[in-house]
Amino acid sequence: MKIVLSLCFLLFVVTLFAQKKNLYKEKYRPQFHFSPPENWTNDPNGLVYYKGIYHLFFQYNPFGNKWGHMSWGHASSKDLLHWENLPTAIPEAKNFMIFSGSAVADIYNSSGFGNKKEQPLIAMYTAHTATNQSQYLAFSLDKGKNWNQYDHNPVIDLHKKDFRDPSVTWYDKGNCWLLAVSQPVEKMISFYTSANLKEWKWLSNFGPAGDTSGVWECPDLMQVPVIDEEGKSKWVLLLSQNASMQYFVGEFDGKRFVNENPSDKIFRPDYGPDYYAAIAYHETGFGKNPVSIGWVNNWNYANDIPTSPWKGAMSLPRKLSVKKINNEWILLQQPLMSLQSLRASAIYEAENVSVEKKEVLNAHSNQCEIKLTWKPLPNSTSGIMLAAAEGTPVIIGYNASKNKLFIDRTGAGDTAFNATYNELSRYATKLLLNNGLLKLDIYFDKSIIEVFANDGQAAMTMQVFPDTNNNKIALFSDGSKSTFDTVKIWEMKSVW
Ligand code: FRU
Repeated sequence: MKIVLSLCFLLFVVTLFAQKKNLYKEKYRPQFHFSPPENWTNDPNGLVYYKGIYHLFFQYNPFGNKWGHMSWGHASSKDLLHWENLPTAIPEAKNFMIFSGSAVADIYNSSGFGNKKEQPLIAMYTAHTATNQSQYLAFSLDKGKNWNQYDHNPVIDLHKKDFRDPSVTWYDKGNCWLLAVSQPVEKMISFYTSANLKEWKWLSNFGPAGDTSGVWECPDLMQVPVIDEEGKSKWVLLLSQNASMQYFVGEFDGKRFVNENPSDKIFRPDYGPDYYAAIAYHETGFGKNPVSIGWVNNWNYANDIPTSPWKGAMSLPRKLSVKKINNEWILLQQPLMSLQSLRASAIYEAENVSVEKKEVLNAHSNQCEIKLTWKPLPNSTSGIMLAAAEGTPVIIGYNASKNKLFIDRTGAGDTAFNATYNELSRYATKLLLNNGLLKLDIYFDKSIIEVFANDGQAAMTMQVFPDTNNNKIALFSDGSKSTFDTVKIWEMKSVW
């Protein structure tokens, strides 16, 4: 009996070890994007930089690979590229789930949760039950590992079924904490202020405005530097609705947020199908620009994507700035410069590549960065194809007669897992060229594509599930012959 038990135990340990060894090597597993080792994740939560460490908390199901038992998962990083997976930070409570929220470092101990030795990290999240959503506090005195619930929760309760996703920031000018929290059904963001994070005073509401096609969720209000104008910044309000995001740019006067962009136009941080619930590190170790991270998925099919033992990943960290272009404030998003340290080797480099129809390149990869510059000819559609070996490729291109940048996964890879995924295959956005020039920076990471156009003026994120060995890359041109000025491709290292 003893021998049998010992053998069983040994087998268990060996299997566990084998499973762990193969983690991050699974089909479709992103190699330079964050995803939890196992189980379901959705929104990034509590993005906070404290004592040289970036904390990433995230909506997490510790018990399965579908949405449920919502808790805060936890990972940390010194550079926002390499992550250490940590135990679940705030687990589901007996009577409620831990929905999205934010975290701050209370370095002056305004809350009183700290002690002589430790400044507290404070998380504000939504406690969710079937009938109520209210805002709760938890604090940590050991750099985010263990969390204690505040005795007098909730700190804000409007006795409403929908009222969620608190985002706290320090408001320097007012010398106080500032909160943005969503009233989803009313399509309104409410602002509150506090001196100690415990007692909150309502300031104002913003909305409905812009895209009101779905409930409003996950607001984030922050100051963002104006590019190339030293010392100047604008206030940006990011929020999510209906499987896509939008942003407003304007001023916050201590009480109210006023949008300064045209009110009849919708501005999105990402024009692809798979970018949601993005929020930002308001403070980082480098400069004044916030750095955002979004959830690479779409509620319409998120629970069905063919990945296991995990579902859901985070976007690359994006450095934010704003720029006035044609009298509109545009949010510029640039992947962190330090991503260049993940470039392994250049696998393709060429200038003046002329293409008629389709040109398969002598370089293959499904884990790479691609930089392209060209002057799209009038009436042409040109660009690049990924996973272009057989069947239908993924296409990223520019339609010059419509001035539209597009990404299209119609029929590419595995599409059988969900009908809506199939329907939501082609995305396009208007993008005016810069003196006729288009610059694309594309990151392809197994099942995630992120495209940044003209220095971050437009971004598009898309999931795709092609066969592992379908890794050909091709340039294409329809209508007339196109010449790509520069084409450079780097294989990317894995961070796992
Ligand atoms: C957004 C969201 C949030 C909520 C969380 C629950 O994706 O619906 O509004 O807090 O997910 O997991």
